[in-house]
Amino acid sequence: MTAGTDRATHTRSVAPGAAEHWPGIDPDDLPDGLVVADETGRVVCFNAAARRIASVSGGGVLGLPLEQVLPLEDLKGNRWWALTDPYGGLATRRGQPERNLLLPGGREVLVSARYVREHPTGPVRRVVVSLRGTEARRRTERSHAELIATVAHELRSPLTSVKGFTATLLAKWERFTDDQKRLMLETVDADASRITRLIAELLDISRIDSGRLEVRRQPVDIAAAVGRHIQAHTTGGQSPDRFFVRVQPQLPDLWADPDKVDQVLGNLLENAVRHGEGTVTIEVAPTRATTDGEKGTAVTVSDEGPGIPEESMGRVFTRFWRGSKRGGTGLGLYIVKGIVEAHGGTITVGRGPRGGAEFRFILPVGAPAYLA
Ligand SMILES: Nc1ncnc2c1ncn2[C@@H]1O[C@H](COP(=O)(O)OP(=O)(O)OP(=O)(O)O)[C@@H](O)[C@H]1O
Ligand SMILES: [Mg+2]
Repeated sequence: MTAGTDRATHTRSVAPGAAEHWPGIDPDDLPDGLVVADETGRVVCFNAAARRIASVSGGGVLGLPLEQVLPLEDLKGNRWWALTDPYGGLATRRGQPERNLLLPGGREVLVSARYVREHPTGPVRRVVVSLRGTEARRRTERSHAELIATVAHELRSPLTSVKGFTATLLAKWERFTDDQKRLMLETVDADASRITRLIAELLDISRIDSGRLEVRRQPVDIAAAVGRHIQAHTTGGQSPDRFFVRVQPQLPDLWADPDKVDQVLGNLLENAVRHGEGTVTIEVAPTRATTDGEKGTAVTVSDEGPGIPEESMGRVFTRFWRGSKRGGTGLGLYIVKGIVEAHGGTITVGRGPRGGAEFRFILPVGAPAYLA
């Protein structure tokens, strides 16, 4: 006995004789629920996913009327099959678009149907119904709702301050000294920058989430880029002693998007300075970037601060996760990971040699095809 017939006789998804409609495809292999009724409205196929979604056991449903096996109701409690009447009704109808319907017991299920006719306006030969659980859609809906709530919250506090200070200045301009006015305007300026930055981060996130992050590759000298970032921090008031750079010899070429590499380095260094303590060590070294042996550059940023607690390491790259009150919006590392992965690279977090956080990202050479 072959594996195929073995499976068919065990699960009996398909009525005898119906299998020739799907040469080579076992309905039980489909990830979605599939229910098929013949021209008399009797079920001829009820695959494994459909049995799971509808909580129907065994193959005992074959031959029963469709409305009895799948007693679907819409959200108002109307019986779905009576309402849509696939076998009667307009002969031009070709199916039903995806709807959220209820199974007995109030379980939600996404249902769509195709009415298969022999010729365009002929009688319905088969009704093919696909069923899908609602969990995945709910999860994305929830995560969108959370994103909107968090974004609104993050934008509100700087905007409240901008609005408050400008309103106060406009109403009582004469009553303030120049110094007071300057102070208020500086706060407004800083809050406006925060909003601009937040919006830029959100745009990056939407590009990452929709896979539209563009990588414009060109040769990048990453050691020089590290140097520039440190320079910016020391000009900004950090002591040069806070940074220690080690660049290993024989780095491979690196073709990457220079602006995006800057964003990655900027975030990691800023985190090390802001959330970490002590000396920030940046090491640039050659490495193997992929399992098939492509060369790459590894950049490791470690500090001597408290580090990331073991139990939170899995979450640092998720959006809006922040470990302490000192955190910013918690988007930095999510964007960093998105950028590194858009380059075909990887990023990991661990504990540094002196206890602090250690972030290590690897970028493959990424040379354009015409140079390979
Ligand atoms: N070097 C570090 N040492 C200790 N904790 C860190 C370090 N880097 C990041 N973290 C923790 O990880 C959290 C998330 O970092 P992430 O860069 O994503 O966000 P953020 O720095 O809080 O805000 P943003 O970068 O969006 O301004 C931080 O809030 C901080 O708690
Ligand atoms: Mg950050």
